[in-house]
Amino acid sequence: MKIKSDWILPDLKAAQKRTKKAVPYINHFELEDYVRYIGKGKKYYISTFGCQANQRDSETLAGILDAMNFEPSESPEKADVVLINTCAVRQNAEEKVLGEVGNLKRVYRENKDLVIGVCGCMAQEEKLVHTIIDKYPQVRLMFGTHNIQNLPNMLYKVMYQHERLIQIYSKEGEVYENLPVHRFGNNKAWVNIMYGCDKFCTYCIVPYTRGKERSRTMDEILKEVNELKNDGYKEITLLGQNVNAYGKDLSADYDFATLLAKVAETEIPRIRFMTSHPWDFSDAMIDAIAKYDNIMPFVHLPMQSGDTDVLKKMGRRYTAESYKTLFDKIKNRIPGVAISTDIIVGFPNETDEQFQHTLDMVNYCKFDNCFTFIYSPREGTPAAKMEDTIPMEEKSKRLAILNQTWNKYALEKNKQYEGKVVKVLVDGPSKKDPSTFTGYSPENKIINFTGENIKAGDFVDVYIERAKTFSMDGKALCYNKNK
Ligand code: 5AD
Ligand code: SF4
Repeated sequence: MKIKSDWILPDLKAAQKRTKKAVPYINHFELEDYVRYIGKGKKYYISTFGCQANQRDSETLAGILDAMNFEPSESPEKADVVLINTCAVRQNAEEKVLGEVGNLKRVYRENKDLVIGVCGCMAQEEKLVHTIIDKYPQVRLMFGTHNIQNLPNMLYKVMYQHERLIQIYSKEGEVYENLPVHRFGNNKAWVNIMYGCDKFCTYCIVPYTRGKERSRTMDEILKEVNELKNDGYKEITLLGQNVNAYGKDLSADYDFATLLAKVAETEIPRIRFMTSHPWDFSDAMIDAIAKYDNIMPFVHLPMQSGDTDVLKKMGRRYTAESYKTLFDKIKNRIPGVAISTDIIVGFPNETDEQFQHTLDMVNYCKFDNCFTFIYSPREGTPAAKMEDTIPMEEKSKRLAILNQTWNKYALEKNKQYEGKVVKVLVDGPSKKDPSTFTGYSPENKIINFTGENIKAGDFVDVYIERAKTFSMDGKALCYNKNK
């Protein structure tokens, strides 16, 4: 396939560069007249893969499309523009995306005006972009994580000049404020506090796909939180690949702990944050979480491995011992805190003994929840070049053992809630059974419960009757009273 001269293709080497230069802050977003009405009478559909940062980006894409007078569609078949916002963190995420793009071929055959766009982290990968160029002609637009604000102009070109367009910058990135947003939830909202990552863990593609760590100013964040509160939102999650690094890139006298306190003082009912790195998790952060009732007692603290040598090869900047010390400190200082983690098994040449150290840590920490993964080599990262003689079969076996181990503790932890009352923020009726409701406890536990006169966004006291590994069942207390 011929590469067109005006295409901008990704470059992982360029994406890796970090300078000391301050990133641009861009406050102004305006649609020019030639793009303002191109969505009139047309519909869009967005499919989102991956992490919360992607969910939030999709809300910006939707906001921009709304501003161009498109309307949301409930299915890709009825849409004029389909955007697939992708994840590159593991190979299986990529395979899912390619499967979805493949399925859309049928829809494209019936509607040659359909614009199928692939964006997000996968679009930042050289090899993947070439695969799509060569094998998926139904994809007419590809753009990267740094190109979102340019969607109107890109769509115009694809729709009216019938071009196939690829625009993927590989750079440190900017901070854009005031981009339109169409929030997908009415009660819970994502709030970006920073973008990008500079940690360069050796297995991870994110620092290449999302640019340098760059913080939004505290004023902008507080403005957004106050607006959300005034709009009736009950819960916000502060988002960053690495929230403890918040503010370090700004020449300001505040950090993540200061931000947490200020956000808590807005009195929005529930505050969460994702993700914290065990390195540089300050005492001031722990104190802020402990001090404010509206900061939820829940910390996601990715461990990745329980073996110090593997952690070193991963470039994680902490040891198994220092993880344990931090874990204990958080547990001791924040009453009732729940802690979840991410763990990778089968990192290149991980020995049985090293894997055993991970199990030892799980046995020690007894996490409330674990997200466990088999290591997936990502082209362009240092770990992808490391020798690895561990067969996949062995890695799968380790994953099964690990899952068995943490599941046991998750159930044990949940059992401690039986017979207790927890405050649940209601998401809505359960999909499977409309007479059951579902929501989350402060500790981020999924609670399914029965009750009457309940709607999404309510806070309900739920009596826990039965604990399971991944959720708990209960009854709304008001329901009990009414009976
Ligand atoms: N292989 C497997 N898991 C990975 N993660 C990140 N990169 C990889 C990879 N190459 C996991 C880490 C991270 C989570 C979001 O995904 O555990 O914390
Ligand atoms: Fe990836 Fe490590 Fe950055 Fe997390 S901290 S996004 S694992 S490089």
